[in-house]
Amino acid sequence: MSPLPEYFQPGFGENEELTFDKLPMTGSLPAWLSGTLLRNGPGTFRVGEQRYRHWFDGLAMLHKFSFGGGQVSYANKFLHNRAYTEAQAIGRIAYSEFATDPCRSLFGKVMSVFSPQITDSAKVSLTKIADRFVALAETPIQVEFDPKTLEMAGVLKYEENEVGQMTTVHPHHDAGTMYNVVTRYHAISHYRLYGLAGSTQSNLIGQIPTTRPAYMHSFGLSQNYAILTEFPLVVNPIHLLLWLRPFIENFRWQPERGTPFWLLNRHTGEKVGRIDGDPFFAFHHVNAFEQGDELVVDIVAYPDDGVISAFYLNRLAEPDSEIPFGELRRYRLPLRGPNQKRRASYEVLSDACLELPRFDYDRYNMDASYRYVYASSINPAQRHGFYNQVVKVDVRNGRSQTWYEPNCYPGEPVFVGAPDRTAEDDGVVLSVVLDAAAGRSFLLVLDAASFTERARAEIPHAVLFGYHGDYFESI
Ligand code: CO
Repeated sequence: MSPLPEYFQPGFGENEELTFDKLPMTGSLPAWLSGTLLRNGPGTFRVGEQRYRHWFDGLAMLHKFSFGGGQVSYANKFLHNRAYTEAQAIGRIAYSEFATDPCRSLFGKVMSVFSPQITDSAKVSLTKIADRFVALAETPIQVEFDPKTLEMAGVLKYEENEVGQMTTVHPHHDAGTMYNVVTRYHAISHYRLYGLAGSTQSNLIGQIPTTRPAYMHSFGLSQNYAILTEFPLVVNPIHLLLWLRPFIENFRWQPERGTPFWLLNRHTGEKVGRIDGDPFFAFHHVNAFEQGDELVVDIVAYPDDGVISAFYLNRLAEPDSEIPFGELRRYRLPLRGPNQKRRASYEVLSDACLELPRFDYDRYNMDASYRYVYASSINPAQRHGFYNQVVKVDVRNGRSQTWYEPNCYPGEPVFVGAPDRTAEDDGVVLSVVLDAAAGRSFLLVLDAASFTERARAEIPHAVLFGYHGDYFESI
């Protein structure tokens, strides 16, 4: 048997719950940095003797890094939801995840997105809705938690079954409203745009019917439009009802459908149009804005859905595995003219590989003047394995800066702006980095402007490869 890659055991194993008031640190933090970075991701890829199959499986764990007085504290905790507590109680995987089904003999044929056996393991991202902190999953069972203790505070089922069964985990926020897209599977399925003002009342703004709903992990938002990018990775909803295989394996890549961009007026709900484009796949929209007669949509694109299969753990355990390069594309969608004559075109903004992209959302969302995107990346000279560097891309000229260190695997880089900034990149970039040689992780603090290391805080264990997080000044 060939040896496992160095990142595999620490990055896809299991985590204990820990609390540390003060992490050992080198370098120094900016004095203004006094909030909290909250991150979400998997806390274990194993229950008893069973293992999950894919990077997007696993049981949810929250991580918290609080800054103050030049120091960093750290705590992590499993979300004590049904998926976790039942798995602990029976010693087996209890709920169906993205690409893993529990042993069917325990439950018979009850697994379905239409059934309550679907997971509540809200491990993908998190957000703040009014005053509540919520962990988000692609199933619309959102878990509220206390940001100070990381204890689960309740389940927020603001999207019940009649609303829809799958949601993006990347809601947008604008002017006090949170927007999200939920897919409701049915004989005629719908993509539904919801607006949530305040903490509980969600309103259906508009919807688009479809017979073959696509897998959509995010969507775009501009001043006037919600942009639903319908990748040709689609499902016949009857297969989700029958549930003969795990969730994502019911979807089929059908490139002949192309990738249409559906536009909904996000104020009135009116279906504005459909602009066709060549087939591609993406998890993450980055930014979008209107410019003259065009809608500009930045997105991390792949030629096909192969990136999903690249994240199966048996593939990531191969010494020669390669993850497809995510490409930062700028799509231009003509806003005028008859539907059938309009077509999306794109340019590639950078030759760097990007995934888990971030930018200064607070100040530059929907703003044509935005310039910098931060992302996890793969060093072209170290092509094998997992994400092994961080990049900062200047979307105006395609130039990039990188942070790279051998044997290190950085997670999503979160930009935190200096409170009184005038330059877009005045601030820091925070990334949890696995140091495979040391067998533990550290929190990397980069100066966002120079993209050089400013500080690092050692975490006393290896943090499993997570997905998304955010920085909150108020915690
Ligand atoms: Co995501």
